[in-house]
Amino acid sequence: MRNPQRALTALLSALLGWPCAAQQASAPKAFFPKADLMPVGVYYYPEQWPRGQWARDLQNIRKLGFDFTHFAEFAWTYLEPREGHFDFAWLDAAIAEAHAAGLKVILCTPSPAPPAWMGEKHPDIYLVGQDGRRREHGTRANGSLSNARFHAYVDRVVTALAKRYGRDARIWGWQVDNEPGAEPDFSPSARSAFQRWLKQRYGTVDKLNEVWGGSFWSLRYAAFSEVRPPSAIAGEDRPSPHALLDFQRFTADTQAAFLDRQATILKRHCLPSQWITTNYTNVTQGSDPRRTTAIDFPTFTYYPVSGSNALGGQTFRQGNPYRMAEALDYFRPIAGTTGVMELQPGQVNWAPTNPKPAPGAVRMWIWHAFGGGSSLVCTYRYRQPRFGSEMYHEGIVGLDGLTPSQGGSEFIQAMQELRKLKAEFDPSAALPPKLAARRTALLWSHDNFWDLEAQKQSEGWSTWRHRSLYASAVKSTGAPMDFVRETDDFSAYPFLVAPAYQLASPQLIEKWRRYAEGGGHLILTCRSAQKNELSHFPEAPLGGRLDSLIGARLQGFDTLPGAVTGSVTAQGQAHAWRVWGDLLRPAEGTLSLAAYAQAFYAGAAAAITRPLGKGSVTYIGVETLDGALERSLVRGVYQAAGVPIEDLPKGVYVEWRDGFFVGVNYAGSAAALPVPAGSRVLLGQNPLEPAQVLVWKEGTPSSAGPQ
Ligand code: GAL
Repeated sequence: MRNPQRALTALLSALLGWPCAAQQASAPKAFFPKADLMPVGVYYYPEQWPRGQWARDLQNIRKLGFDFTHFAEFAWTYLEPREGHFDFAWLDAAIAEAHAAGLKVILCTPSPAPPAWMGEKHPDIYLVGQDGRRREHGTRANGSLSNARFHAYVDRVVTALAKRYGRDARIWGWQVDNEPGAEPDFSPSARSAFQRWLKQRYGTVDKLNEVWGGSFWSLRYAAFSEVRPPSAIAGEDRPSPHALLDFQRFTADTQAAFLDRQATILKRHCLPSQWITTNYTNVTQGSDPRRTTAIDFPTFTYYPVSGSNALGGQTFRQGNPYRMAEALDYFRPIAGTTGVMELQPGQVNWAPTNPKPAPGAVRMWIWHAFGGGSSLVCTYRYRQPRFGSEMYHEGIVGLDGLTPSQGGSEFIQAMQELRKLKAEFDPSAALPPKLAARRTALLWSHDNFWDLEAQKQSEGWSTWRHRSLYASAVKSTGAPMDFVRETDDFSAYPFLVAPAYQLASPQLIEKWRRYAEGGGHLILTCRSAQKNELSHFPEAPLGGRLDSLIGARLQGFDTLPGAVTGSVTAQGQAHAWRVWGDLLRPAEGTLSLAAYAQAFYAGAAAAITRPLGKGSVTYIGVETLDGALERSLVRGVYQAAGVPIEDLPKGVYVEWRDGFFVGVNYAGSAAALPVPAGSRVLLGQNPLEPAQVLVWKEGTPSSAGPQ
């Protein structure tokens, strides 16, 4: 897709003669030869260990099988101990030791950890929270990303790093910042920057008043300089949802610009072979990775065992069953590749409870990342810290700095297995036709997410839960899935799911229609297209813009309080629901797939489907408690289209990558995976036990028919 910002960057880089992220982003895989499969690395913090142990540690890292290490993301006070005085001697030495040990190095910019001297001199470099409190020195990620002085300090240290190491072939790539979270900032710098952002967006204050609904509660402004970032203290009514949405957009844009300014400096000085990434959290709610233009590709961090227990029993030890799968499918399509920059090595310290992962789980996550297309996996961290706020966080080796932890042993095992698998790599492997037939796009936009979260209308509503419900239904079919955005070409995907896509422009609705008419199978869910692109209701019946697309009329919606549940019936089976129920009246030619069984609207349709042109449109208006109805309706769309699918239990995934099928099991019991006769199992056993891995290669497509 054409991206105007990328085009502008390309033009500028052509004029200025420096390498262009936009050019490189189009071919990020070139950084990672496929035959290498997936290099594995580990964080090491030289500044936290005696100088006399660096060589030993880095050599041991290599001996255990790691390919690369990762330095300096929080080391600003060591890089610039006094304002303007840089010290690279220690980093030079650490890089030399890593190189001597045979490790590549990922170098980081230290922007998340400004040194104490900076805040003492200029307290305005800190972010201010919604409670009005200024962050102080003592933790991290505390800088105001709108503050010009902070920018100047960041620019200077990044430039110094780039000049020193940008032509150094021992540096493999760069990580900018750490877990950029786009935290809302209420500092004076952020307020002014927000006003400038609004002026740029709306031009006149009248336009702003129109979009924000200034006539409501006398909220209108006479000048941009009167605007404050929207916030409410407990007990107050809610600010304008349009103001909230714009503040989220501004905050995400500010975060993206902060990353881009660092990436742009690096690009100016660095070898074209050095790539630039940043490590988003896997569930990235404030930052929008699509908003950067100078990062080559995004990576993500992932700590699967940190308290949640979605599948019940002891399965929390295998980790959250949804997030790795979703993160891979979300981050990979953004620039054609991704990596897991931090993968949990064992018990962590920061969750409400910090259970022990199941034996095998760490290895399974590594393999899951491989199957889902990750170009690298890195783990945080090599040595368990002996001091500091993460003391109880396991590493690859324990407190003696030598003995591998359980997770460390699993990393070692997985790295040996990956090395063996290289012999099986076939550069000519192509996506098997049975998978191509199921390819599915999942439409996602952070703007839509933020808008839904600002007006939930139902206390149990979680946009992320809703998305996971549909993503996991799709993955149960064994379909390759990509998260896409509105501007992408949907036609490469036979199936398109748009969960709760509330903010819809007329152009998007038309694009959905053309997609279905052209042969695509479109699945929309509750709340779809209720608001326009300004996040206003159109002057028409609620959801009415979809009538002719879905072949039904939305008659309203219901949400249920507390522990009350409603019931919907589909094919004689009852399903309990609570959080959201769209009430639909199908038109002629539209089939009701599920109907409400209770309340004064009993009989109204909860889900419908209809053929449209060469394709079909299905609308699932209810969110059930366990998601079983949605799962069977989604699966039914593939079946009705005559596309064979798998039936993978919840938490069981089969991914395909470069000719390898990779199965993993986050569930509580063994699962028989669909391995066709004539396949060659390269790793593991079928049925697949929990926390285990199965890797196989299938025969020719003709022998690999539907399961
Ligand atoms: C991540 C963070 C790391 C480290 C880690 C501990 O969220 O990026 O710096 O704190 O958690 O699990």
